[in-house]
Amino acid sequence: MSDYQIHHHHHDVVVVGAGGAGLRATLGMAEQGLKTACVTKVFPTRSHTVAAQGGAAAALGNMGPDNWQWHMYDTVKGSDWLGDIDTIEYVTRHAPEAIVELEHYGVPFSRTEDGKIYQRPFGGMTSEFGKGPPVARTCAAADRTGHAMLHTLYGQALKQKAEFFIEYFAIDLLMDEDGACRGILAWKLDDGTMHAFHAKMTVLATGGYGRVYFSATSAHTCTGDGGGMVARAGLPLQDLEFVQFHPTGIYGAGVLITEGVRGEGGYLTNSEGERFMERYAPTYKDLASRDVVSRCMTIEIREGRGVGPNKDHIHLNLSHLPPEVIHERLPGIAESARIFAGVDVTKEPIPVIPTAHYNMGGIPTNYHGEVINPTKDDPDRVVPGLMAVGEAACASLHGANRLGSNSLTDLVVLGRAAALRAGEVVEKGAVPEAPQSEIDKALARFDKLRHADGGTPTAALRLEMQKTMQNHAAVFRDEETLQEGCRKISDLWGGLDDLRVSDRSLVWNSDLMETLELTNLMANAIVTVHSAEARKESRGAHAREDYPERDDVNWRKHTVGWVDESGRVTLDYRPVHTEPLTPPEKGGIDPKVIAPQKRVY
Ligand code: FUM
Repeated sequence: MSDYQIHHHHHDVVVVGAGGAGLRATLGMAEQGLKTACVTKVFPTRSHTVAAQGGAAAALGNMGPDNWQWHMYDTVKGSDWLGDIDTIEYVTRHAPEAIVELEHYGVPFSRTEDGKIYQRPFGGMTSEFGKGPPVARTCAAADRTGHAMLHTLYGQALKQKAEFFIEYFAIDLLMDEDGACRGILAWKLDDGTMHAFHAKMTVLATGGYGRVYFSATSAHTCTGDGGGMVARAGLPLQDLEFVQFHPTGIYGAGVLITEGVRGEGGYLTNSEGERFMERYAPTYKDLASRDVVSRCMTIEIREGRGVGPNKDHIHLNLSHLPPEVIHERLPGIAESARIFAGVDVTKEPIPVIPTAHYNMGGIPTNYHGEVINPTKDDPDRVVPGLMAVGEAACASLHGANRLGSNSLTDLVVLGRAAALRAGEVVEKGAVPEAPQSEIDKALARFDKLRHADGGTPTAALRLEMQKTMQNHAAVFRDEETLQEGCRKISDLWGGLDDLRVSDRSLVWNSDLMETLELTNLMANAIVTVHSAEARKESRGAHAREDYPERDDVNWRKHTVGWVDESGRVTLDYRPVHTEPLTPPEKGGIDPKVIAPQKRVY
């Protein structure tokens, strides 16, 4: 391994990832005078947040009455009572100020006639604690909200003198013998050099792992790198069984068509031209929450009412909308529909199908972004020096099902919260050195993969994994499919020992990078199927046909899953946080209002 040249960098904070959460955290850290590095495998404005279309939920009340308690209620119900109540209160309370802050940073939100931030309805966002009509709560920049946010946050972070290390791939965490994180080792993709980032605080903002599925709205870069690194450090992943399928991915292409289409008045129909959501969700219809809509679409297809020659998808209609609404509010999806489905949305429906979109689970954290490694005695034990934010994390804002447009809110509110916490806990003074033994260990793993000379190309093993996940951990699940999924993924894990990497170079070696990514994907995949197999109930996005009811007595708890080097998965559980932060007499929500109930829309 003598040909590896290692460069050493010392920072108060290293943020890994430059999507919405990574950039918001980076900006916040730098604003507080912390010496901050942001290490990212893609150029910041090409991070997957760029694909977020519909907007960010915040109870600004610009379009009519709204308040954070209604938003909190909707989020608790959307989570199917698995969300951590303290996190949900924190986020919904702070969402309005975080959005106004974004506006002041320069995000070009769409505007109402009187110049306020434009807000549109989204699924599961209601008024009067689920008893009133849908509420327009989702703050939008046309249908390119994530794009607008990324550009603004990147500019602001540069202004605050955060240092960016772009096109560096994070290989592994560097942990010390007391279990604290001391930084990361990264590979600079364009010149092959190795970089040890020594830091007092490491923040994982690496996004989701949507690419464990064959068809996903996620970018090809969404490979769960943070989850993979955490798993290799012997830390758990939480609630991975909860995978969101977005109702409207373009059939065949997987490209996202925003829920904003239904927010603006679009609707779904089956082969009989029926607006079938009226049957399943009489009150909120097409604006029921995502897990519900995806299940209803799947049932329509299974029962023979799908559209197309194979009756295997559904139509999303928006040709009745005024052209100026499409032009002003939905220009991006009109373009996507034309390019990826050959459809003129002013004349024809878009062919859509539920498509893997978002991971509710991830690296367990509290609402300050601090990573949790639970024990029986202390289910909330914090890992010193390590934070996670955004889709990589599971602060359990979303529980078992995320409401559309709560993701961008999560990124900015909890990215900012992590920065505020780091401002409190990161001590002044010299940055301690990460252990050399950890650098050596990470390099050895890298070198082994670089020289892998087995019989299986990385792309072949990845495809098998993606098909297995698609077939065995989809919208509907049961014991038999899940057990078979566990067996198959375990076999595929064994296949990691037989990988063949053809390119041994260190410069722009996409073969090697995809191999490193595959090791991360596989860790996420194996914990996902095992967690899903173990959870004997239906809740949110986890729909078990053999256990169709939610079981709060036995299963209102978070799954935590560890995977070791041999692919052996160990599961345990930690309690859901059920207490709000603020008592009712101080303006908090009445706990009775958010007590578990039957979830109907
Ligand atoms: O439908 C959408 O625009 C996606 C939004 C989200 O996932 O929050």
